[in-house]
Formats: sequence, C-alpha cells, structure tokens
Amino acid sequence: MMQLSPPCNNKTMKIAKTITELKTCLEEIGKDKTIGFVPTMGYLHDGHLSLINEAQSHNDVTVVSIFVNPTQFAPGEDLDAYPRDFDQDSLLAEAAGTDLLFFPDPGDIYPAGASTFVEVEGESTRKLCGQSRPTHFKGVTTVVNILFNLIQPTRAYFGQKDAQQVVVIKKMIRDLHLPVQLVVCPIVREADGLALSSRNVFLNPEQRNQALVLSQSLTAAKALYRAGEGRVKILKDQIISHISNMPLAVIDYVDILDFKTLADIENITSPALVAVAVRFGSTRLIDNIILD
Ligand code: PAF
Repeated sequence: MMQLSPPCNNKTMKIAKTITELKTCLEEIGKDKTIGFVPTMGYLHDGHLSLINEAQSHNDVTVVSIFVNPTQFAPGEDLDAYPRDFDQDSLLAEAAGTDLLFFPDPGDIYPAGASTFVEVEGESTRKLCGQSRPTHFKGVTTVVNILFNLIQPTRAYFGQKDAQQVVVIKKMIRDLHLPVQLVVCPIVREADGLALSSRNVFLNPEQRNQALVLSQSLTAAKALYRAGEGRVKILKDQIISHISNMPLAVIDYVDILDFKTLADIENITSPALVAVAVRFGSTRLIDNIILD
C-alpha cells in the first residue's frame, strides 16, 4: 500500500470530506500512479471489502467513496432510512487497505442549481429495476460520472450483485469513451446463501429467514438449466412458484435476459442473466446468477 504524507490527516488512510481536500490528496498521489476506485454508499460489508481488496492488489492507490447519492432515490424511497455508520466504515475501509476515503456532502457533489444529468437510454435502464425505479439509473450514472471526473481512476470496481448497474455503467463508459477500466467482482454471500447488502440490516428474523428463497430459487433454476431446460418461460415460472411459497415475499420482478444487452430471450443459447427483486415488508432485495 502506498503511504501518503499529511496534509489531509495523520493516519495511514487519508479522509477527504470536500472536493478541495480530495484534490489535495490526489495531487499528492501524483499522476503516475494507478488508481483503483471503489464507489460505495457506505455501511460497508464483506462485499464492499472484497472490492477494496481487489482494487488494492491491482493498483498503486485505492480510493473509496462513501456517498449516499440522493439522485438515485425517488421520493418515498429509503434515502433517509438508508443505513449509515461513517466511523465503522472508516475503520473497515482502512483495515481493508484503502489509501484515500472520500466522504463528501451532497451539496459538494451537487452544487446549488446543478441540473446536469448523465442518462443511459434504452433497454438496459428500462427493464428489471428500471420498471419500479424509473429514475434510479439516471442518478447512478450521473454520480458515477461525477466521481470518475473527480478521481480519474485507472480501474473502477463494482459488484456483480448489482448486475443491471454493471451493464448500465459499462454502456456509459463505452458510449462516453471514459478512460477507466471497469472490473466486476463476484457476489459475496452469507454462509446460508443470502447475498450481502447494506439493506439486509432492515430484515426482521422471519423476513431474513424467508429471504433465503432468493438464492435458493436461483440455485434451483440453475440446476434445472443444467439438467437441460433452456426455455426461459419454464425457468421463470419455476423461480416465481418457488418464491411465492414464502408468505412474506412480494415479487417485484423475476426475469431472464441476455447477459450483455438485457434484451429479451425465449431460450438460453448464450450467457443469460437471471435476476430477481423481492420485497419483504419495506425492504427490497435483489439477487442474480448467470447461466452460460
Ligand atoms: O452500488 C452502489 O452502491 C451505488 O449505486 C453507487 C455505484 C455507489 C452509486 O451511488
């Protein structure tokens, strides 16, 4: 890990709480270093830490951002309730090898009167989460673009758990010729299969137990596919009936799409994304697997 000297603070890991502090730290790092960037909304778990570890082992410097981005939440969504614990996050980030932690205020990222957005149009943002969260990806691509502009990373690390986000950001990088390499890291799961998510903390014990149906239904679909079933309708129906066995589960979507483009398919003949979103009370969980 690269050691930076003050002025940001005296610890091994620097913390920049403003864009000015971030720029000072980045100037100190210098232009000749590779930067691995992990954008997060905080409340770090092992999934985030796996991204930081990956960034750390392939770059000179690892930069992590913690920013609960208001533009990716629609009115009535869980922006205010989104879990936050900066002190714990900074300890975890530092232990995982972060060199620079960027923790800006919304007013710094979106200066008063900001009205410029980056939007990926088309199938990739309309389907899956785009159906129930039609403005979500516009907020994601806007903030990721702002963060890329500020940090100018060599590589940026995202989790496969947000499979649609990965497809959308890949497209944005391609369409806008952004000089950054996207690295996608595998989903990290609890021992019982539940995909790690900052929102898991909202589940009560019974919801937590029933939420296992997400990974279980995906694993069962994979087994059916491996046994020779490639028809999307049959695979989808099996997942839906599996999830519907859980009385607390309310399905948002179950879909199987082309992995690269998110186009509709009837049969699996090339890598396919099997994605589910299910609500337990007010908590919406997502999970996915790739069949290829
Ligand atoms: O995946 C997330 O945590 C967020 O969508 C991201 C990429 C940090 C943008 O706010």
